Amino acid sequence: MPDQDLYPVPPEWAKRARVDATGYEKLYGRSLADPGSFWLEQARRLDWIKRPEIAGDWSFAEKDFRIQWFADGKLNVAANCLDRHLAKRGDQIALIWEPDEPGEEPRRFTYRELHAEVCRFANVLKDQGARRGDRVTIYMPMIPEAAFAILACARIGAIHSVVFGGFSPEALAGRITDCDSAFLVTADEGRRGGKRIPLKANVDAAAERAPALKTVIVVKATSGAVTMHEGRDIWYHEAAESVPATCSPEPMGAEDPLFILYTSGSTGQPKGVLHTSGGYLLWASLTHELAFDYRPGDVWWCAADIGWVTGHSYILYGPLANGATTLMFEGLPTWPDASRIWQVVDRHKVHTIFTAPTALRALMKEGDSFVAATSRQSLKLLGTVGEPINPEAWRWYYDVVGEGRCPIIDTWWQTETGGAMIAPMPGATDLKPGSATKPMPGVDPQLVDTEGEVLQGATSGNLVIAKSWPGQMRTVWGDHNRFFQTYFTTYPGKYFTGDGALRDEDGYWWITGRVDDVINVSGHRMGTAEVESALVLHPMVAEAAVVGMPHDIKGQGIYAYVTLNSGETASSDLRAELVKWVRAEIGPIAAPDKLQFAPGLPKTRSGKIMRRILRKIAEGDVSSLGDTSTLADPSVVDDLVANRVV
Ligand code: WT7
Repeated sequence: MPDQDLYPVPPEWAKRARVDATGYEKLYGRSLADPGSFWLEQARRLDWIKRPEIAGDWSFAEKDFRIQWFADGKLNVAANCLDRHLAKRGDQIALIWEPDEPGEEPRRFTYRELHAEVCRFANVLKDQGARRGDRVTIYMPMIPEAAFAILACARIGAIHSVVFGGFSPEALAGRITDCDSAFLVTADEGRRGGKRIPLKANVDAAAERAPALKTVIVVKATSGAVTMHEGRDIWYHEAAESVPATCSPEPMGAEDPLFILYTSGSTGQPKGVLHTSGGYLLWASLTHELAFDYRPGDVWWCAADIGWVTGHSYILYGPLANGATTLMFEGLPTWPDASRIWQVVDRHKVHTIFTAPTALRALMKEGDSFVAATSRQSLKLLGTVGEPINPEAWRWYYDVVGEGRCPIIDTWWQTETGGAMIAPMPGATDLKPGSATKPMPGVDPQLVDTEGEVLQGATSGNLVIAKSWPGQMRTVWGDHNRFFQTYFTTYPGKYFTGDGALRDEDGYWWITGRVDDVINVSGHRMGTAEVESALVLHPMVAEAAVVGMPHDIKGQGIYAYVTLNSGETASSDLRAELVKWVRAEIGPIAAPDKLQFAPGLPKTRSGKIMRRILRKIAEGDVSSLGDTSTLADPSVVDDLVANRVV
C-alpha cells in the first residue's frame, strides 16, 4: 500500500464548501441508487429549449449496446455558456487572455463581449457555408479567437475537431481526412515561449494531403508572412467586418454531436472520440463545480492547451457554463523563467490553478526561489491532471506553492470520459498525496483481474467503470464497431479504462498508470503503434518497437528499438535523423527520448514482440527479464542488453 499520510479537510473548507463529507456520501449514494431522478434533477443546471424527461438509456452489452443521455432534451451548448448569463452577469469578465510576452497587455472579454465575438465568428462560418453537422477543424494557438471559433461551432451546430497546434502537417492531414472536414480555422502563426509556430504553413502542407478541405479561415495573430490561396483561404478579420454581432443559436438534440477529439490508443491510428451536447456539458459543468467548489467571482485558470480535452472541458465548457471568469494563457509556465506561472496568478488574482504533474516537476527542478518571489495570496485551490502525481511533486505543490493553505484536487479522467471521474471535493474529502481519492457522483469504478473477475476490498487490478455517466464518449467517429471493440470487449459489460489502479482500506483510488500499449508523455497520450508506424515509414527502417520508460520530468519517455534494412549501417547521425523524422511525422511530443539500433527484436515463435522484455531493458532493469526461453531466438536479448541506450 502506498504512503498513507492524511491531509484532513481544513475546517474552513468543511464549513463554506457546497458539499461536506456527509453531503458527499448522500450525493454519491443517491446517484447510484436512483440515477433516473438524480440525473433529471442535475439536468436542471442547464438551460434547455426542451427539458428532458429521460435520463440515461444505455447498455454496455453487445446485443443492445447503446449510450444515450437526456435523449428527448433540446438545447444549445453555446447559449448555455453565453446567452443565459447575459441578464445576470453580462458585464462580468468571462475570458481573460494572458499573452506569451510578459510585457504585453492581457485582453479581457465580458460575457456580453464574448457573446458578440462568438456570434460574429458563427456568422463568418455560416457565410462560408458551414452548417449543422459539418465538421470544422480548428488548428489554433492559445488566443481568444480559438475560443470564439469553438463556441461558434457549438452555436451553429457544427462539430468541431480541435487539433493541437503542436501536431505536424501529416498528423493534421490525417485528422482532417478522417472526419472529412471541409472547413478549417487557423492563424498565421502561434507563439509560445518566445518562439513562433508556422501554423498556416503547416495547414498549406497538410492541405496537399487532405483533399476534403475546401475553406481555410485565417486569424491574423502575429502578422507573420503567409501565402493565401485564392479560392480557399480567407482572412477572418476581413470576413468579420461585415457580419452582425448576433446569431441565433441552433436548437440541438442532447445527443447531437458537439465535438470530435482525436486521441491515441494502443493500436492503429488515433481515434476520433465523439462527445455529444447535453450529457457532456452537464458533466463538464457539474464536475467543475463539485471538484473545485467553484463559486461565482472566482478567477479560474486551467493551464492546459485548448487542443486537449482538459482545455475543452475546463478552459471553456465547464467554467463558462458555470458563469466563471476563465483564464487562457498563450505562453509556457517556464518562460521567460520559472516565476511566470505564479506571476500570472498574482496579476489576475487567480483563485484556482489546474495544471499537470509534468509542469510541476519542471518548475520544482528550478528551485523554490522562483515561487517565493511571488505572492500567490489569491490562490485557494490547486488542481492536477494528466498522470499519477508523485508524492514528492504533490508535497511541493502543497507546501511551497500553496504554503499549506490550499487543498490539492487530483482529478483522474480521460478524453473518453469528458470530465473528472475520480477526484476529491475540497470540503468533503481528506487528501492523500498521490491518490485521486473518491469517485464523482454516478461513477461506479471497479477493479477486475485479467479474467474479468470483480475484486473486492483493498487490492489492485484493472480499472473498469461499471455504469454509464452523462459525460461518456458516444462513439469513435466513423467506426462504431471500433468503439465497442476497444472499450467494452476486454471485460464484457464494462467500460475498460486502460488504466491499472489500487483501492486502499479507506476506499481511496490510486491510479498506477496504463496497462495497455499507451505511453503517457508529459500527461499526453501517445500510442506505441503510432510511433512505430512513423518509424517504419523511413526508407532505411525495417522494423520498430516502442515502449515507455521512466522520465524525471515527463513522467514517461519514449524508448524506441529500431531494426534497419539489411545493408544499412547504424550511426549517431541516423539516430538523430530518425528522431527528427518522428517529430515531422507526428509532432515533437512523439519524438523518442532514446533510440536503440537492434539487429533483432525479441519475438515469440508466433512472431509476437515480447514488449515486457523491451520495457525492462528500457527501464534499466536487466537483472529480472523473466523467462526468455519461449523466444524464437533468445540470443537477441543479450545484444539488446549490451547495447542499451543510457
Ligand atoms: C490517461 C488519459 C484527463 C485529461 C488529460 C489526459 C492518465 C489522467 C490522471 C490522474 C493518474 C491520470 C490515465 C488516463 N491520467 N489523469 N489524475 N492520475 N493518471 O487525458 O490524454 O485522455 O489520457 O491519463 O492514464 O487513462 P488523456
